[in-house]
Amino acid sequence: MDIIRSAPALATHINALKDAGKALGLVPTMGALHAGHLSLVAQAKKAADAVGVTIFVNPTQFGPNEDFSRYPRTEKEDIAALEKAGVDFVYIPDVASVYPEGAHVTLKAGEMADVLCGAHRPGHFDGVVTVVHRLLTQTKVDVAVFGEKDFQQLFLIRKMVEREKLPVKILGAPIRRESDGLAMSSRNRYLSISERKTAPLLFHTLKASAAKIKKGDKVEVVLKEARAALTKAGFLVDYIELRDSDTLHLLAKKNAAARLFIAAKLGSTRLIDNLALNAA
Ligand code: PAF
Repeated sequence: MDIIRSAPALATHINALKDAGKALGLVPTMGALHAGHLSLVAQAKKAADAVGVTIFVNPTQFGPNEDFSRYPRTEKEDIAALEKAGVDFVYIPDVASVYPEGAHVTLKAGEMADVLCGAHRPGHFDGVVTVVHRLLTQTKVDVAVFGEKDFQQLFLIRKMVEREKLPVKILGAPIRRESDGLAMSSRNRYLSISERKTAPLLFHTLKASAAKIKKGDKVEVVLKEARAALTKAGFLVDYIELRDSDTLHLLAKKNAAARLFIAAKLGSTRLIDNLALNAA
């Protein structure tokens, strides 16, 4: 596995792979890898001949009071895991390689970037689409895989790729969960022992709420009860909403594409999750 740290070295590596006629896949990450990321790698390997992973904690997607400086950085372990997973190259650029003109947002995420997480993290998705555009352009991959845990991110990346006419196929990968239901996330390692015990309630509430809506209970009532139960258990709920998976529009009633979205803080850790009603 090649470990590449600069844009010129990346270009040389990519050109060699392209010259050899390989279809290229990418899994963009911010490191602190877990089994969820490795499942994205496995999916990318099915869709491409050679797969790269980027590790870059992108400054432009963090707000001033967010966890940019304390975001877990575990490069040595990440490299070992990727080597074992059979990745062809890992790109670990410094800020100047991604943002030669300074770390600023240069793309807008557009419609639906201000709802759900965007309403609580202003400008976050502008930073995400800016960096993803740069990473896709630098790596020139044919396919890139993103996890459905960040469903709104995946939605907005697809829109950006369409708008910018990038020649890359975007694939979504199902959420990987711990055995107690908690969605895998690099931020789970922030949880204290007692918070970790409480955390799976987020998914269990989501699942129970989805089942009630599915059987015909009133959406507004179900969501109010879910919020109250989570608040009682110690969560600070940012949102719990029913939306359409295809448009992200808010739904007052279930439809065939209905999906429940949730974000809540447990102590200082912000957790997100989502569940399609037809999967509940
Ligand atoms: O999901 C992430 O890890 C990040 O938002 C991404 C897509 C790598 C962009 O920095």
